[in-house]
Amino acid sequence: MIRFKNVSKTYPPNVVGVEGVSLHVKPGEFVSIVGKSGTGKSTFAKLLFAEERPTRGTIEIGGWDITHIHDRDIPLLRRQIGVVFQDFKLLPKKTVYENVAFALQVAGERPHRIREVVPKVLEIVNLQDKLDRYPNQLSGGEQQRVAIGRALVHSPKILIADEPTGNLDTLNSREIMDLLSKINEFGTTIALVTHDRDMVNRLRRRVITLEEGKVVSDVEEGRYKL
Ligand SMILES: Nc1ncnc2c1ncn2[C@@H]1O[C@H](COP(=O)(O)OP(=O)(O)OP(=O)(O)O)[C@@H](O)[C@H]1O
Ligand SMILES: [Mg+2]
Repeated sequence: MIRFKNVSKTYPPNVVGVEGVSLHVKPGEFVSIVGKSGTGKSTFAKLLFAEERPTRGTIEIGGWDITHIHDRDIPLLRRQIGVVFQDFKLLPKKTVYENVAFALQVAGERPHRIREVVPKVLEIVNLQDKLDRYPNQLSGGEQQRVAIGRALVHSPKILIADEPTGNLDTLNSREIMDLLSKINEFGTTIALVTHDRDMVNRLRRRVITLEEGKVVSDVEEGRYKL
């Protein structure tokens, strides 16, 4: 599903993002990527959805070599990969419904398909009663649920979450983690970048630890130890 072979990413002039990362993530896995600040976690995530290209090595997603992916093929990749961030990145002047629908509109989906998909997705993230709210009328947890809903519109095979609970309190964080687990149970592979020790330890799933861009541990049912 996800295969990194000896991947390095160096930012100009010579800042190490990640260095010599080799790993394989199987379909349906739930992997947490942990490590101190500046250790390459977001770089790893960005390489996955081709926001950054590797300096060396190869990256395959679902058997597709995206190492040198052409810009015109990126929309195709992004249909297979949903992404959520710490700061939600919602459109402030659009409602919950419109934020989710917009992701389908820009992908050129037909109106009848949009009317079909948006309510389904909003039900998964349990926001069916708040479709007409604007982002500033929602709690942080609810905003993140909108962002997750938006990431699910194309039924992605992989969901990448970079610090999705970074701006949330414990209760909202747990809700988001439960939602990610539910999405994983539906079969979506999850790559979760996080600082949140308790959340990682509660998961009891695979934990990859980065240090200065390198994988220093990779453990099934791992714990967050730093
Ligand atoms: N666009 C960029 N240009 C230059 N250097 C960058 C860029 N993005 C990241 N870096 C550097 O690459 C290294 C890894 O950064 P990255 O964002 O991947 O770390 P991180 O583990 O996500 O950190 P944090 O936990 O603070 O989010 C850091 O030294 C960072 O300063
Ligand atoms: Mg980061």
